[in-house]
Amino acid sequence: MIPLIVCGASGRMGRMLIQAVTETPGVRLVAAIERPGTPELGRDAGALVGLPALDVALSDDLGAALQRAAGGCIIDFTAPAATEAAAALCARAGVGMVVGTTGLGDSAKAALQRAAEAVPVLVAANFSLGVNVLLGLAEQAARLLEGFDMEVVEIHHGKKRDAPSGTALRLAEALADGRGQKLSEAAVYARQGDVGPRTPGEIGVMALRGGDVVGEHTAFLFGPGERVELTHRATSRTTFAHGAVRAGRWLAGKPAGRYDMRDVLGLAGDAGRLAGPAR
Ligand SMILES: NC(=O)c1ccc[n+]([C@@H]2O[C@H](COP(=O)([O-])OP(=O)(O)OC[C@H]3O[C@@H](n4cnc5c(N)ncnc54)[C@H](OP(=O)(O)O)[C@@H]3O)[C@@H](O)[C@H]2O)c1
Repeated sequence: MIPLIVCGASGRMGRMLIQAVTETPGVRLVAAIERPGTPELGRDAGALVGLPALDVALSDDLGAALQRAAGGCIIDFTAPAATEAAAALCARAGVGMVVGTTGLGDSAKAALQRAAEAVPVLVAANFSLGVNVLLGLAEQAARLLEGFDMEVVEIHHGKKRDAPSGTALRLAEALADGRGQKLSEAAVYARQGDVGPRTPGEIGVMALRGGDVVGEHTAFLFGPGERVELTHRATSRTTFAHGAVRAGRWLAGKPAGRYDMRDVLGLAGDAGRLAGPAR
């Protein structure tokens, strides 16, 4: 049984992850970690999600918990500062990382890169099969629809902290890749006031927030007299949770380095195959 640790255990995703671990063969929950001071510390992780007791008490000590996770990994859906701190601990303890936390800044990204020199690290802005297929389709569409204007719109629940979503950024990156552009040079993140006409080649990325929307992403490709819309709608977080646990099981025993969800799903290289020879 592969040992897994859920970090951010009492959050929206953390609760789903605890449940998903119990439903996935071949893995077992060895620790559930939360922020120091959380009132639920000490509570059984099973009770937290309405399941029978799992004999895993919610703890704030990731360092100690990692001693019980040799050969396994953590599944981190927390906040950028917590992910950064976890990266150093995991590298030292030799425990792999599956990271779903979005909105990572340069410092957290660098910490994950350093960790990947010692342990396997898989970072994904989205763990659903559908979104990972969408990324390949978007890259293909951008490659084939020469001269089309490309934009990304995402919608999430009102409690989401970062904007645009990590998935929207990956989607915009897939469009840029398809067109042979760098997203950092093409992206426009908000428009307001007298912005003038749209620049050819720019990729707009817009975020809407409200209600309980789990996550919606659309890549628009506007051409003369026609437009293509590629949309993914998540209707439940369980998709992400099961994808992340599957990633944890897949990652166990892999050599140190960086991985992404397309490796887990066997989609790596599919964008290229779908799109045909690069221009
Ligand atoms: N990749 C994907 O497929 C995917 C899907 C959904 C969400 N996400 C991302 O996952 C992250 C979490 O999302 P969510 O909706 O579950 O948010 P959430 O409900 O706020 O859960 C995050 C949890 O992490 C806890 N936390 C914060 N700092 C911590 C620390 N130092 N140690 C341990 N736990 C800590 C938070 O505690 P407090 O509430 O006390 O701060 C909270 O319980 C976000 O970045 C979100 O964008 C990714």
